[in-house]
Amino acid sequence: MPESTIGNAAAASVADLTLEEKASLTSGASFWTTKAVDRAGIPAVMLTDGPHGLRKQRGSSDHLGLGDSVPATCFPPAVGLGSSWDTELAHRVGEALGVESSIEDVAVSLGPGANIKRSPLCGRNFEYISEDPIVSGVMAAALVQGTQSTGVGTSLKHFAANNQEHDRMRSSSDVDPRPLREIYLRSFQRVVQDARPYTLMCSYNRVNGVFASENPFLLTRVLREEWGFNGLVVSDWGAVNDRVSALAAGLDLEMPSSGGTTDAQIVAAVREGSLDESFVDASAARVATLAKRWQDTPKIAGPLDVDAHHALAREAAGRSIVLLKNDGDLLPLAAETTVAVIGAFAKNPRYQGAGSSMINPTRLDSALEGISAVSTAAVTYAAGFSLAEAAPAEETAALRKEAVAAAADAEVAVVFLGLPARLESEGYDRENIDLPAEQLKLLDAVLEANPRTAVVLSNGSVVALPFAGRVPAILEAWLLGQAGGSATADVLYGAVNPSAKLTETIPVRLEDSPAFLNFPGEDGHVRYGEGLFVGYRWYDARQLEVTFPFGHGLSYTTFEYGDATASVNEAGDVEVRVTVTNTGDRAGREAVQAYTGLVSEVQRPERELKAFAMVALEPGESREVLLSIRAADLAYWHVRADRWVVEGGTYTVQVAASSRDIRSTTTVDVKGDTVLMPLTRESSLAEVFAHPVAGPIIRQAMAPIMSAMDGSSSVMPEGVEMEKMMGSFPIGRIGMMAGGDFSPEQVDRLLEMANSATA
Ligand code: BGC
Repeated sequence: MPESTIGNAAAASVADLTLEEKASLTSGASFWTTKAVDRAGIPAVMLTDGPHGLRKQRGSSDHLGLGDSVPATCFPPAVGLGSSWDTELAHRVGEALGVESSIEDVAVSLGPGANIKRSPLCGRNFEYISEDPIVSGVMAAALVQGTQSTGVGTSLKHFAANNQEHDRMRSSSDVDPRPLREIYLRSFQRVVQDARPYTLMCSYNRVNGVFASENPFLLTRVLREEWGFNGLVVSDWGAVNDRVSALAAGLDLEMPSSGGTTDAQIVAAVREGSLDESFVDASAARVATLAKRWQDTPKIAGPLDVDAHHALAREAAGRSIVLLKNDGDLLPLAAETTVAVIGAFAKNPRYQGAGSSMINPTRLDSALEGISAVSTAAVTYAAGFSLAEAAPAEETAALRKEAVAAAADAEVAVVFLGLPARLESEGYDRENIDLPAEQLKLLDAVLEANPRTAVVLSNGSVVALPFAGRVPAILEAWLLGQAGGSATADVLYGAVNPSAKLTETIPVRLEDSPAFLNFPGEDGHVRYGEGLFVGYRWYDARQLEVTFPFGHGLSYTTFEYGDATASVNEAGDVEVRVTVTNTGDRAGREAVQAYTGLVSEVQRPERELKAFAMVALEPGESREVLLSIRAADLAYWHVRADRWVVEGGTYTVQVAASSRDIRSTTTVDVKGDTVLMPLTRESSLAEVFAHPVAGPIIRQAMAPIMSAMDGSSSVMPEGVEMEKMMGSFPIGRIGMMAGGDFSPEQVDRLLEMANSATA
């Protein structure tokens, strides 16, 4: 049934409901389900986590991943899957999530997350895709489309500017309009407009002083009026502060259950006239639409094909591993090479983050098993360090000694380092970006014993890599889900040729990172002082050295890029074309990136990612890759006009293998939008003179005054232009400067004339 028909049917069905029944629909019946209204045929439905696997609890309910849940496939969390830059893969993973949800009669999978990784310290970065809004939006849209292709809904979260865990239930994210629109909301906008998620989840925090759950600007103006969202807005679990204000602001469904308390508040507010009943009607209809839509959706019959989904999880994990470095082609390993596998994570994988997204996996592969299965030579294992918080010094020394001996005896050492689970979690942020000191010490000792060492990292967000210059090979293996162990072996031995790339910069030091001085804020406010300069936008603007840049990732083959061309098509989009050739001797995949820049009237990062595409190439094969940059993505948020504006001009287009590996540069002329701001007494002379219609008129009218002022100065150095000097002067005050020759009323008449000529 088309969405609009279901919507009408639902609206009709709530029309017959009592006020109490309608209000009851706007909050949960339990931790995970909505309420039914049986006499109107509105069923209850279940919404549950998300985002990288199904967490359907079967005992006690909680939003912190504590209680037991049904076994489900744990796919790579967003930090991994995002690094694949592969929308087709994300679509398939999304679809698999839908299948598992449908089998379990779950109507909505709570994810994906489209928040931006503002600081590497955010404890929940593992659930987010990127520091860049285009990568975040495009990948999240693919996940949504995949899941919703099965009839299961998604819940795009956490809307908005929820970029830290510290004080997340209260803190206000204070963001200026341009970064809010161009960075933090852009990822959500992309998903809403391209993939139409059935639901969207508001975040816990305040945005510019107003709780996201009761923020009419976010939930109504931006989301519904500007973006055309017609799905349902659900609260994050426990995010509702004032239910009545939230409903009026656009929050349809409060989760979890409030035990009926807030339903009664809604009824009372309508009865006493402080809340218009139409708000209750609209939200109740949206809940009914969601529930009826699920009722009418054919469910996928179980049992779950555990093997097939595990295989998909393995494929996805393999495509999520970033080969950061591979000096001397240390990797891939030959099956007959003797290997020392070192590091506790090789045996006890860290494969997902803590909190509401914790899956009870159907299986769990370790890298040690994976390596042992492929290798035909001796494989030794040494834990190297303890994962316990404060292991005794003697134990640490003994573990290190054992590992060094193993490394010395093998042809290659593969060292698994990473963040213990306690260091990153939903609910709190990290304090630094360092790997534990004993792990770094272990690595140094191993390197000394055997320089042919590869490092495999397990972490949910970036860590500093002080050893990057000394270790020949590094795999950033993030958190990879349940099949991460076997996938790591696939990459180590070359069954999978790595193709993932970084969606977040690896800085040299935390102190270099953009939000360093503005994170996590204080007194209930966090100021997004870096503005637009998030992630690589910052490191590039400050010309900072980074350990590995955004977009970086190597392959076991090599790619050559031809000369890029760029042109504007009929729709106004920029089409960038480049031929990429696989110049190595094995098949591989390359994530080709297109960045733009413009010498601009407004502040802009030097380069911003606007499009990317994945190309698969056989050895020697060439293909033309099309990167389509939407005109809308070139737009910046014009603060005074309060709207998107595409600035006209000659844009630089860089086609790149990473943000710091530009392979071809071209330019494209873009016709911009005209912005004519009404002139007021506050308008500066420069603005007035630049105005296409008003400028010439006013310039003519003011010519005598300007020349009088110019002539009155006997001390003006030669070459100093009066018009430039006076450029910032408000036109309303010019009369005074002109000795009263130009009255405020005359100015008003001129402005009126100019404004009516351009209206
Ligand atoms: C998280 C959400 C999650 C919800 C339900 C909250 O704590 O922020 O992402 O979907 O709990 O578990």
